[in-house]
Parts: sequence; structure tokens; C-alpha cells
Amino acid sequence: MDATQTVFGEGPAGAWLMLVGEQPGDREDREGAPFVGPAGRLLDKALDEAGIHRDEVYVTNAVKHFRFETSGNRRLHKTPAAGHVRACRPWLDGELAAVRPAVVGTLGATAAKALLGSSFRITAERGRPRDWEGHRLVATAHPSAVLRMPSDRRGEAFDALVADLAVMAGEHPGRRKR
Ligand code: URA
Repeated sequence: MDATQTVFGEGPAGAWLMLVGEQPGDREDREGAPFVGPAGRLLDKALDEAGIHRDEVYVTNAVKHFRFETSGNRRLHKTPAAGHVRACRPWLDGELAAVRPAVVGTLGATAAKALLGSSFRITAERGRPRDWEGHRLVATAHPSAVLRMPSDRRGEAFDALVADLAVMAGEHPGRRKR
């Protein structure tokens, strides 16, 4: 399969939380839905541990097409270029305007830089809520980064992802203490 399809976000129109990933993967491109492959399964588990149900979340990506290179008959993920992120930005802005989530969570560097600028560093700033364009925004790592960790560090990386998702849950307007 050479051509890819446009994979839009998915979730309830009035979701309190919008999670923004990088781009659909092989599985997402085949199924036409975001985060339905291995990274999505890990995300679902992390959401569950953070007390968030996937069906209350609008899940989308900074880039709406799978970018890949072929190796034999396999399609291997290729990081999107800044131009792909720019080209897809109107879609993301449209999703933000339609869903109007109280909280936006970015998953990984591509999404964080797309919204906060190229100097943003996840390692230094993840898990810290900030005001952004009328939303509360919390950046965290990408679930794929957890999957890529050596097995002896994967548990720790997963727990850090859950902790950041729990920070997002704490920003839910109904749960916020401020
Ligand atoms: N990785 C992403 O960033 N988005 C998806 O939808 C799947 C994998």
C-alpha cells in the first residue's frame, strides 16, 4: 500500500481533554482512526491508570497522514518535517475550535513543538500545566517512546506517562482545586 489516507481525530464533540500525538502509524492508516495500534494500546492502559476513560477524550495528531519509508514490504515510520506539521495546522486548529477542550495534552516532541514552538523541551517541561490559547496545556512523552525504552526502564517511563496524564486529569474543570 503506497497511498495513505487522512486520519482525523476521534472522540466526543465536547471532550474536556484533547490529546495530540504526532501522526498516524501503519495501523492507524489502515484503520482510519488515531492511536489504534501498539502505541494506542499503551496509551489506553496509561489513561486507565490515570483514571481517564478513552471515550471521554478527543484523540488526534499534529499531522494527519502516515509518513513512512518502505523496507521490503514493511512501512516504517518517518518523522514528519516542519512543513507537514505546518500544512496540517489548520485541521488541528479546526478541531480545537470545534471541541474547545478545557485541557490539551501533547504526546511527544512533534505535538509539543507544533503548539509551543521549536524551543520547547519535553524533558525539562513535561507534566507542568500552563495556560495556552484559552486552554490548560500539559506536555508529556509519546507512548511510542515508552515502547522503545529498554525493558528495564520501561516501567519507570510508563509510570511517568501515567503521572503526567494524572496532572491533565487534575486540570479537568470539574476536578480543579483552584
Ligand atoms: N502515534 C501517533 O502519534 N499517533 C497515532 O495515531 C498513532 C501512533
